Amino acid sequence: MSEHLTVVDHPLVQHKLTLMRDKGTSTAGFRRLLREITQLLAYEITREMPLTSTPIETPMEEMDAPILAGKKLALVSILRAGNGMLDGVLELIPSARVGFVGMYRDEETLKPVQYYFKAPEGLQDRLVIAVDPMLATGNSSAAAVDLLKEAGANNIRFLCLLAAPEGVQRMKEAHPDVPIVTASLDRELNESGYIMPGLGDAGDRMFGTK
Ligand code: URA
Repeated sequence: MSEHLTVVDHPLVQHKLTLMRDKGTSTAGFRRLLREITQLLAYEITREMPLTSTPIETPMEEMDAPILAGKKLALVSILRAGNGMLDGVLELIPSARVGFVGMYRDEETLKPVQYYFKAPEGLQDRLVIAVDPMLATGNSSAAAVDLLKEAGANNIRFLCLLAAPEGVQRMKEAHPDVPIVTASLDRELNESGYIMPGLGDAGDRMFGTK
């Protein structure tokens, strides 16, 4: 993936995103849409996964058929909102290994605070996809990627639903080697660190906590 930022402008993605932004969308609807849109974004972020071939027999004849090469992909959820994107990717790639980075944002300093880290073994040999719906300040995303690199990951991609220009810039400075795939590059962050026009607090909307 040569671009640092890819905005997936597919009509289905944009349509589902509009439904997700709408404050009238229910918790159940928001969760379902997030799973669906994540699958469409995952399609884009995995398009350069290396293939090898394997001999199989169709009902007609033998053939060498393409199959994913190398170690299983590692999917890393940045808690808690990242969990809303896990199922969508796992439906497409059921054999993916899954890790978790626990980060919360201190609402005063907007700085990330880490409280949990658990990653699959052999990160250095895997494509690692970090998922978090909202790339806002980029502070927690950059810190999560720092942790993944410290654990050995060297082929990381970042999958989010919405990105703010500030977050993209922060990631570009901290991790220029980590391509970002998103459904939208929104206008800006507000003074509280929320993405505008955004969709509000993704965690609260998917888990119904507000
Ligand atoms: N996290 C969210 O859930 N929403 C934002 O707008 C920014 C960060």
